[in-house]
Amino acid sequence: MVRKINVFDTTLRDGEQTPGVNLNFEEKLQIAVQLERLGVDIIEAGFPAASEGDFQAVKTIAETVKGSSVTGLSRSVRKEIDAAWDALKVGTEPRIHVFIATSPIHMEHKLRMTPDQVIENAVDSVKYASERFPHVQWSAEDACRSDLDFLVRIIEKVIDAGAEVINLPDTVGYITQEEIRHIFTYVRENVPNIDKAILSTHCHDDLGMATANSLAAIEAGAGQVEGTINGIGERAGNAALEEIAVALKIRNDHYQAETGFTLNEIKRTSSLVSKLTGMIVPNNKAVIGDNAFAHESGIHQDGVLKETTTYEIITPELVGVSSNRMVLGKLSGRHAFKEKVQSLGYNATEEEINRVFKEFKRLADKKKEITDDDIFALMTEEKAGE
Ligand code: KIV
Ligand code: ZN
Repeated sequence: MVRKINVFDTTLRDGEQTPGVNLNFEEKLQIAVQLERLGVDIIEAGFPAASEGDFQAVKTIAETVKGSSVTGLSRSVRKEIDAAWDALKVGTEPRIHVFIATSPIHMEHKLRMTPDQVIENAVDSVKYASERFPHVQWSAEDACRSDLDFLVRIIEKVIDAGAEVINLPDTVGYITQEEIRHIFTYVRENVPNIDKAILSTHCHDDLGMATANSLAAIEAGAGQVEGTINGIGERAGNAALEEIAVALKIRNDHYQAETGFTLNEIKRTSSLVSKLTGMIVPNNKAVIGDNAFAHESGIHQDGVLKETTTYEIITPELVGVSSNRMVLGKLSGRHAFKEKVQSLGYNATEEEINRVFKEFKRLADKKKEITDDDIFALMTEEKAGE
């Protein structure tokens, strides 16, 4: 049986915490509408108590977006929960995301609270939130560096207080795949009322393991995955949702789980987020980078031209890219060169191809990438010499 994994997108909240990124009201709305089209289940539109701008953006997104559930972040503070309610009550399914830190480091140095005070505070805020909101998500900030038995205690109590989603973030991107599988399994096996809640995973990318860790949490029973488009976010960023959705699709045989993403909206969503945030997507980024479907070496080009699956595990069309791309350079072979010449409209004989291919190789030694204009010039010379 294939499990449906809910996708919680925090591009507009955690993603906006990317240093240097500051989206205006219209830009946030544009991104939210595209996230809805992509098939995101829950959009975290911002932190309503943080500023008047965030409040207005969350409110307008909650009013506008009807195909995804819209949520906003709040600390465990009644005034912030009130602000979130004022912004979100217009939505079809008002949902709040309340959090408090549970790791010894955060409780002692940041909150300056004892573990019992943290439990009291978490329970109070979840109760207060659930008197207003039909849907309450609670997050144990820095869960992956928290004491497991403390997590079990607090989770049981916040579920009793009304939380229906329990999020266990790897706030500092520290965990390994085996460890996160253990945390999720331990919580599922030891929290007596866990069946009343959905477990959620929210990984940061400080060690470059956010996608792998999110997938490991899904293997261990997470029913919701959180992240951002293009993996933007605080420090090294969040888990990249497009990578997770495509990994679940391509390796469905292994994960037996899927998201509700309309996968061919991925490229368009990624480009919009990149354009509006100014965060350039590296060419070699998985799934959405410009080189994700480009082939340069002659051996690869020849293989792909004969049968795409030799070197492509994802079809470009799956994620909304029109086609793969043969990069013509010094490593390219005659097969890819001939295809290119033909695709540009030339009806060349085998001898012509052989002659121009030699010229092409000479040029490619001096130039990193051969463009269509270069091919036009080479073919024009060849035809002139006939
Ligand atoms: O990374 C984190 O712990 C967070 C929480 C606010 C959920 O973003
Ligand atoms: Zn986060």
